[in-house]
Amino acid sequence: PFQAEDGIRDMPTGLVGSEMCIRDRDYSTRKDGTIPAAFPRSPPRLIARRLRPMESLRGEQAAMAEQKATNVHWHEGDITREHREKLLGHRGATLWFTGLSGSGKSTVAVELEGILHEMGIVSYRLDGDNVRMGINKNLGFSAEDRAENIRRIGEVAKLFVDSGQIALSSFVSPYRADRDQVRTLHEEAGMDFIEIFVDCSLEAAEARDPKGLYKKARAGEIKNFTGIDDPYEAPLNPEIHLRSDQQTLEEEVHEILAMLRERGIINK
Ligand code: ADX
Repeated sequence: PFQAEDGIRDMPTGLVGSEMCIRDRDYSTRKDGTIPAAFPRSPPRLIARRLRPMESLRGEQAAMAEQKATNVHWHEGDITREHREKLLGHRGATLWFTGLSGSGKSTVAVELEGILHEMGIVSYRLDGDNVRMGINKNLGFSAEDRAENIRRIGEVAKLFVDSGQIALSSFVSPYRADRDQVRTLHEEAGMDFIEIFVDCSLEAAEARDPKGLYKKARAGEIKNFTGIDDPYEAPLNPEIHLRSDQQTLEEEVHEILAMLRERGIINK
């Protein structure tokens, strides 16, 4: 009954972009109202990114990322990602939001999640603060712990992509190497990884200070706070570069939806 090779060409298409007006905002970007016939797979990015060899990983993280279990074998099921994507009517992908604390990563992810939901597209938010209260509660903010935080969430995001969903990961993820490693893991598995730089000046993020953390960091009550006494390495070549201190939320969501359509991840 399952024919993965049919792809997801025959899925019902739902609302056409030009008819769509959700939450009092018009998120349709397709001028001619057409929908791509299929969900083409994006070609792998040609930029060569080297996975960091184990020995170059920071000490403790190398130990945490090490394959310790022996005699384990991957067990293939009968139902593949393609089957699940066909069922859902869209492709899985990871949208990776990176930026300073208070830059607006979660705000954009929450808004996008709502819009996707109303479009009938299944996404799931993975959020730094939330994840650090559960699966990653044993990790702090040293470079090693941040690396392990990102590695684990990268793997979790991959599981969501394999389930056919769109993972919306918002983590400060201040180190380029950590983000690139997650990108490589996705690309090796033939999965889309869309890096979204939520760019915002430190001044604007600090003026917002939604959790009062910058104030505490300035007062020396929080150590290693990104942007204050800890580094943030901006993406060099993100798929999407948002300026949250200059753009509206609506513009930001538009840009992301346009990219998802362009890549054939969604067709609505
Ligand atoms: S990351 O660097 O490992 O990617 P993550 O996104 O999970 O960080 O968590 C960042 C959130 O934790 C911030 O939004 C903030 O609320 C909180 N936080 C607490 N301490 C720090 C710190 N030292 N640096 C950055 N964020 C911190």
